[in-house]
Amino acid sequence: MRKLISILSIAAALACTSKQAEPTGLVTDKAMVVSAREEASKIGVEIMKKGGNAFDAMVGTELALAVAFPYAGNIGGGGFMVYRKADGDLGALDYREKAPLAAHRDMYLDSLGNVIPNMSRVGATAVGVPGTVAGVFEVHEKFGTLPIEEILQPVIDLAERGVIVTEKQERRLENTREVFVEVNSDSTKFAQVFKTGDTIKYPALASTLRTIMKEGRDGFYKGEVAQKLAEFIQEKGGFITTEDLEKYQAKWRQPVTFNYKDLKIISMSPPSSGGVTMNQIFKMIEPYDIGQYEHNSSQSIQLFTEAARRAYADRNYFLGDPDFVDIPLEVLLDETYLEERFASFSFEKATPSSEVSHGEVEIMESDQTTHYSIVDAEGNAIAATTTLNGAYGSKLYSDELGFFFNNEMDDFSAKIGVPNMFGLIGAEANSIAPEKRMLSSMTPTIVEKDGALFLVVGTPGGSTIINFVAQTILNVHEFNYSMQDAVNAPRFHHQWLPDMILFEEEGFSEELKADLKSKGYNIFEGPARIGGKVDAIRVLPDGRLEGGADKRGDDKAVGF
Ligand code: GLY
Repeated sequence: MRKLISILSIAAALACTSKQAEPTGLVTDKAMVVSAREEASKIGVEIMKKGGNAFDAMVGTELALAVAFPYAGNIGGGGFMVYRKADGDLGALDYREKAPLAAHRDMYLDSLGNVIPNMSRVGATAVGVPGTVAGVFEVHEKFGTLPIEEILQPVIDLAERGVIVTEKQERRLENTREVFVEVNSDSTKFAQVFKTGDTIKYPALASTLRTIMKEGRDGFYKGEVAQKLAEFIQEKGGFITTEDLEKYQAKWRQPVTFNYKDLKIISMSPPSSGGVTMNQIFKMIEPYDIGQYEHNSSQSIQLFTEAARRAYADRNYFLGDPDFVDIPLEVLLDETYLEERFASFSFEKATPSSEVSHGEVEIMESDQTTHYSIVDAEGNAIAATTTLNGAYGSKLYSDELGFFFNNEMDDFSAKIGVPNMFGLIGAEANSIAPEKRMLSSMTPTIVEKDGALFLVVGTPGGSTIINFVAQTILNVHEFNYSMQDAVNAPRFHHQWLPDMILFEEEGFSEELKADLKSKGYNIFEGPARIGGKVDAIRVLPDGRLEGGADKRGDDKAVGF
């Protein structure tokens, strides 16, 4: 029966998506970068204009975001990158932070075994060993074509020239200024008030980047920068040593790949939960032909929510760093397993999360990660998501080195069953151990249609990332939205626990919410900051590219 439903729904999908939506975002002929700041997108595009490929552009864009978007762009954090080369070759890079050697399972607990408030979230104790610089050099070494100087010099120039403060940035800096002072001191750079239109220059960061340009990855992980970095973190009470830095390695991984109707979806594998969780969601909804329902109607929201509820429950229990834990991927991604898991789904009423598992937590969402998408003129594609975790990470800023440090240690389960800052409840698989990578939700994703490149997509948003990437793909493929409209469309979120749907403030009617409530769904009633900022590219049927730059941020598509 399930097979028959699948065949019918594939036929329906083929019929309804044979004509794609007209583009409404920026359209270019050859190449494009979509990122959180125009300055970073431009640097990536300029690199491709002078003959560099998407991988060269990735190095430039990633580092330019560290300058132009210190809220989440970084050299003090880490990330994941998924690529698809023009010849169809696929791969993924894990440059996620690691726990320092001094870390241990109970490091954030007091003598009574309770989690010490903020120790994994604010200041030096929260910092994991950064992976970004290792990541970009790994990419450059394997796939780069331009000399590193040609890629880094424009980034250094940007840091010296400075970046103009936007309205949104002014608000973010103002909201966090008090904590900057608490964590650092009132003489720290970001203790100053910055207003819209001001230019912030980053000479210290320019100097660190110059060392990296001269000495390669060793310019960060060994020598003077490493020494200063470790001393600074330790002075502030943290754990990172020069040995931690010296031992850090980025790691090539096999991406998670699966088919959904006529799409092939390629996404990040553990230690990110993104690909596995999205695979589960898509496979649970596939037999139901979600596109037959109206976009963001009760039925489509119910289908998606019930799949997300079950997938997030598995995520939290089973997933962790594959170098440390055995993840039963064959079972988790098995179609029969997923069919059984979804057997209790009904359009009549919600499945309470307590019947899927148990626990009660509070939610606090945030979106302090950043994603960028790149396609070059040859058709190489890159989806990369990078993060400091919280807004400006741990808020710890080295005035000498010129950058913020992550608070990625909070992505571990500090204590089994106690939620992290995203309200995600962890299990043993994600407990802390020296050199282990913390579980992530980052979901950089590439989609093929009929064997050709179709979409490049990703977003910040903590635990909401997986749902928002999946909804953006569905918006294009099932609801026939253009790339820009798919990115703009209102989004919703359910993550198993807490058992409630969060809706973006605009775009969901009171009647819709009342209908869902009548079926047993809990609706989060407060101001839910769950926007995410999806930055994506669609390849149009004629080969041109359409950008989707999220209107919720200062995000920008640039191309030629
Ligand atoms: N720090 C957010 C994530 O990795 O999911």
